[in-house]
Amino acid sequence: MSDDETAGDRSVTLASGARMPLIGFGTWRLTGRKAYRAVRTALDAGYRLIDTATMYENEKEVGRALRDSGVPRDRLFVTTKLHPSDAGRERATIEASLAALGLDHVDLWLVHWPPDDRVGTRTWEQFLAARDAGLATSVGVSNYGIDQIDRLVAATGEAPAVNQVPWAPPLFDADLLAASMQRGVALEGYSPFKRTDLADLALVAVADRHGVSPAQVVLRWHVQHRVVAIPKSGTPRRIADNLDVFGFELSEADMRMLDGLGA
Ligand SMILES: NC(=O)c1ccc[n+]([C@@H]2O[C@H](COP(=O)([O-])OP(=O)(O)OC[C@H]3O[C@@H](n4cnc5c(N)ncnc54)[C@H](OP(=O)(O)O)[C@@H]3O)[C@@H](O)[C@H]2O)c1
Repeated sequence: MSDDETAGDRSVTLASGARMPLIGFGTWRLTGRKAYRAVRTALDAGYRLIDTATMYENEKEVGRALRDSGVPRDRLFVTTKLHPSDAGRERATIEASLAALGLDHVDLWLVHWPPDDRVGTRTWEQFLAARDAGLATSVGVSNYGIDQIDRLVAATGEAPAVNQVPWAPPLFDADLLAASMQRGVALEGYSPFKRTDLADLALVAVADRHGVSPAQVVLRWHVQHRVVAIPKSGTPRRIADNLDVFGFELSEADMRMLDGLGA
């Protein structure tokens, strides 16, 4: 596997100028040795974006896998997230995440959900301060709506670099995609498979035509929409296959069919 996961057609450029790989590795529900092994397997397969969160309770294992992989730090894109219950102790929380990961900064720090006031302006101000202090190269949010993002921008003048939201063909939302792009917010989708019927006959037909799996079609659909995908797998074969989506291209008709799967 080549080490070009940040090359132009495989990454999006964030508002900061930093590049974010279009396919990353999700680690929710992977803990302990399983988390370590899966992240090592993913890094060996060529993934460079690793998605964790304080809530996943695996930052230590992720950090050890990052170190043991031998992949240079500047090739990695590491994301972690603040649980809303840690609102009010943002600085201490990112410092604890960095200590667990064994890093001096993350590439992306996300507000995992909107905190209690439904927008989290104070938390967002703390995120911007942490970014300015060099603890995170980019900061963003997760599970936010456009109205909530607009309120953060109104309060601070700064939009999140990324919004991580549930995303899959049945959830396709052209308005959210366009509104995010207009605001310079990169969309990152989570749960690409849990939210898709991988046995859907139309999806299977597209996969068969391209000689790939339905899961690979779903991830390629993300890539062609320039939406970052972070599939999770604990299965080595699937981990490799989920990154192997740059050798085929979906037609416009395929894309439209997938966009309409939820209709
Ligand atoms: N921000 C948030 O609130 C939020 C919420 C949910 C998730 N996330 C992030 O997004 C990541 C991905 O979402 P997710 O873990 O919920 O779900 P997912 O990636 O959609 O689905 C994972 C499931 O799909 C299976 N799978 C993986 N590759 C497959 C393939 N090629 N063919 C068929 N099945 C396959 C996995 O099985 P095996 O493991 O057995 O292979 C696992 O059961 C998470 O790990 C986490 O990092 C963020």
